[in-house]
Amino acid sequence: MKQTERRLKTLDRVLSKAGIGSRTEARSWIGSGRVAVNGKLIQTPDHWVDLDRDRVTFDGKPLQSAESRYVLLYKPKGFLTAYRDPEGRPTVYDLLTDVKQFLGTVGRLDLDTSGLLLMTNDNALAEAMTNPEHKIPKTYLVKASTLLTDEQLNRLANGVELSDGPTRPATVVRQRDSEKYTFLEITITEGRNRQVRRMLEAVGSKVLKLVRTRLGPLTLEGLSIGKWRDLTPEEVTRLRKQSRAAGRSVKRKS
Ligand code: URA
Repeated sequence: MKQTERRLKTLDRVLSKAGIGSRTEARSWIGSGRVAVNGKLIQTPDHWVDLDRDRVTFDGKPLQSAESRYVLLYKPKGFLTAYRDPEGRPTVYDLLTDVKQFLGTVGRLDLDTSGLLLMTNDNALAEAMTNPEHKIPKTYLVKASTLLTDEQLNRLANGVELSDGPTRPATVVRQRDSEKYTFLEITITEGRNRQVRRMLEAVGSKVLKLVRTRLGPLTLEGLSIGKWRDLTPEEVTRLRKQSRAAGRSVKRKS
């Protein structure tokens, strides 16, 4: 087999992909000598592992690759999308009661954003869902700090200039206006840092409230805030189809 065809991964990734802990935890276990490759203790997290040939053990037990799991969380605001916070603030992992495997987050939501967060140990799917080239749609409900004119909404839809470049066209729908605020729904196909907040600032307003209501084919329907549920097999199939189709369309264009 040619070198390029070998399936290589670093040891810390192999452990986290097996669903037994985060990469940070894996690095610390490796450092403390709990992990062996082909019977030899390895204390370097960046050690390359050949997935087809090498045998990895953790505390002497062979690593079993974890079953894929997909969890949909309705994140409340005030919870960090991070495994641990040095300042001790609550994280989304505090809400995943009764989930034994380590699941990574598919993208992030800001501390002050609530809504749909997908978590999984299926790294390939997570990567496909977050690859900006795949243009997976994400929908948000926004309460703006001002009333917005049609012209401002059109600018959001056509693309605004941000410090990291212009935004792609978005779908923007005015939901309603109150005396002082516009409520709108926006669907974007990128996932840049604080993107919706920065887009609103670019048209001279601010986000007062932000809720993600949809990611690809997934919605929050039926889920209460702070709660999670496993995806149904049909939802997993739909997600896989969407991310495969998105990948194919990128290949066709390149
Ligand atoms: N856009 C933002 O500005 N924040 C989020 O959390 C998600 C999208």
